[in-house]
Parts: sequence; structure tokens; C-alpha cells
Amino acid sequence: MAIQPHGGTLIHLFQPNYEVSAVRHSVELDATALRDLELIGIGAYSPLTGFLSQEDYDSVVENMRLKDGTVWSIPITLPVNENKASSIKIGEEAKLVYHGEVYGVIRVEDKFKPDKEKEAECVYRTAELAHPGVAKLFQRPNVYLGGKIILTKKPEKLFPDETYEPAESRRLFQERGWNTIVGFQTRNPVHRAHEYIQKTALETVDGLFLQPLVGETKNDDIPADIRMKSYRVLLKHYYPQDRVLLGVFPAAMRYAGPREAIFHAMVRKNYGCTHFIVGRDHAGVGSYYGTYDSQKIFSHFSQEELGITPLFFEHSFYCLKCDSMASLKTCPHSHEDRLILSGTKVRTLLRNGEDLPSTFSRPEVVKVLAEGLSEKVTQ
Ligand code: ADX
Repeated sequence: MAIQPHGGTLIHLFQPNYEVSAVRHSVELDATALRDLELIGIGAYSPLTGFLSQEDYDSVVENMRLKDGTVWSIPITLPVNENKASSIKIGEEAKLVYHGEVYGVIRVEDKFKPDKEKEAECVYRTAELAHPGVAKLFQRPNVYLGGKIILTKKPEKLFPDETYEPAESRRLFQERGWNTIVGFQTRNPVHRAHEYIQKTALETVDGLFLQPLVGETKNDDIPADIRMKSYRVLLKHYYPQDRVLLGVFPAAMRYAGPREAIFHAMVRKNYGCTHFIVGRDHAGVGSYYGTYDSQKIFSHFSQEELGITPLFFEHSFYCLKCDSMASLKTCPHSHEDRLILSGTKVRTLLRNGEDLPSTFSRPEVVKVLAEGLSEKVTQ
């Protein structure tokens, strides 16, 4: 039996024949809102059926729940400027437009001015503009429109051969006979710690859904096309093909650490995952969150209301004395014996043109990353 989607029903709001020409108003989306629209429409954000109204928004910001009590930790909002907001009346429809193309329609049920300081403090645990998620929050316009959407056109697939909507991934898991599936979120080029925790998880479940986030990320993150090459080459050389599915997650990264870990888990449940990996500093940035805050937050909720089972991993590294990957839980040696692996470190070494040893990342992966980055520089 496949896992229930969050809230019980997989939302499907794609109506390509919906008549948009008669809709008088239009709202310009940014890249984040465009992908949120898509993800609501295809059910990845089930049970959401639209951008949050004020009651749901307040409840999500304050309590990490929709107003009906369903767990939801990140506000999915549609920010517009004040002139635009005042031109649309409650109950009216507006086209949702990105770069001149209409992608959907919202029936405006609510418009409200959020307290962004509060949103920042609650969701990101800081209001500092140095935090990329907070900076984005304050850059976006100041009024939020809430209301149910219809997706009338799907945005371009970023990686067409590796894009599965929740209904498709669910079907594929079933076809492969996987009853238990572990989801993996990443925004970084793959390193040995990723491989280690994925494979450790895979020892106890039927399949791995490797789902890199490919929506907007901060400027110094490695571009998604290069990262995708790194995942493909790793899977080709080091993973059993019949146990892994690579499919992208087109949402924007929020860098909201613990709150985003809950959000990532709920979304992966909608894609059909029964388990979800949360390692050290999941979705973190800088030193805004404690190493295991993204794990601790799961204890606010019962397993029943989460539905998906989080799999927590300790900080893992390559230990020269163990001569293998290990973690704080399994390695008795000292700090000096350990090669600490992180996305930040991979990025720094690559950008400085330094060697990444095979203890850090597989040689095939390093090659792809180095080539990808040098191409970007010469472009
Ligand atoms: S992010 O989306 O969480 O920012 P990232 O690629 O950095 O992406 O991490 C992907 C997943 O691997 C997260 O669950 C993270 O906690 C985990 N992870 C990354 N590096 C390590 C490590 N060295 N030890 C344990 N877990 C790790």
C-alpha cells in the first residue's frame, strides 16, 4: 500500500483548457512563485490548493500548522505590490503570469500585509538580511494574495528526463515493487557523506528517491546543471540501477533549516516516499542553526501526523584510521583522523582549483564538477 499523501488526497489542479482570456487582472510571478504554483498544481504541496490565506499563514508562521491543524512549516505566499493588491477585489480572479506567459489563475480570497519581521523570526529564526532566505523575504513585495489556484500551463521542465510529478513517482515506485522508499534532498554537489548516508538508509528500505532541489538557490551554490551531472555519474558507477530513482525537485531553496526540513519531508511524502533522510544541518546556511536542529524539530509532531518516517544521521566523514566512511556514532578516533565533508568545503576546493581526494568525492564526480565549473568560467 502506497503512503497516503499529506492531508489524505493528492491534489491535482492542472486544467490546461481553463478559459483565461476573460480574466481581467493579472499578477506577475517571480521564479519562486512560479515553481510554487506548479508544485501546488501537481500535488507536491498537498494538501495546499492555493497560496495561503491570512488565517492559514498566521497559523503556519506561529504554529507550523495550517488552521485545520495539518502540519505545514513554510508559508507558501503570493506577494504583490500594494497598487496591484488594491486593484483586485476579493472574489475576483487574476491570471498568474511569468515572463509574459500565463501559467495559472488565482481566485483571490484574501489579501493582507504580513508582518515580515515576525515571519523572519519564526520561520528563519533570524531577521538578519545576511540570511539568504530572509533577504529574499524582504525583497519580495509587501502584500500577500491568498486563494485557490488553477495551473493552466506547466512551466518548462528544467531536467525533462528526470522530472516526475508525485503521481508519476508514486506509479514508478509501485511498478518497481518498492514498498519503502527513502527520499533524499540536496542542493549541493554530491560527496562521500551523502553517498554514505543514502546507502546506509538503503540497507533498510527498498528504494532511494534521490531528489535534488533545482529551483532557485543562492548565488554561490553550484548551478543545478553541474550538480545533476555529478549525481548522474555517481549513480552510473556506484549505485544499483534498480534501487534508485533520480528526479528533481523544482522548488526554490529557502535555507530555513529546521522548518525547511519538515517541509521537505512533507513534500517527499507526497512524491510517495515513506522515509526521509535528515543529516547534519539540513537546509542550513552559515551558522544560523545548530547542527541537529533540523532533526530535533521533528519531535514537535507525532509520527502519525507526519506520516513519513525521518531517518536521522549523525555528522559523517571519512576516517583515515577506520579507513572508511563513519560517523560520530560509529567512529572511536579523534578529530585529526577525520576528513570533514561538507557542501561548502566541496564548493571552496573546486572554486580554488584544488584537488578533491577520492576520500572526499568519487574521482568521476570530481572530474564532472571541475569540468562543469571551468566551462561556466569560460562561458
Ligand atoms: S540541503 O538541502 O540540506 O542544504 P545538502 O546537500 O547540504 O543539502 O545536504 C543534503 C542532506 O545530506 C541533508 O539531509 C544534510 O543534512 C545531509 N548531509 C550533508 N552532509 C552531511 C554530513 N557530512 N554528515 C551527515 N549528513 C550530511
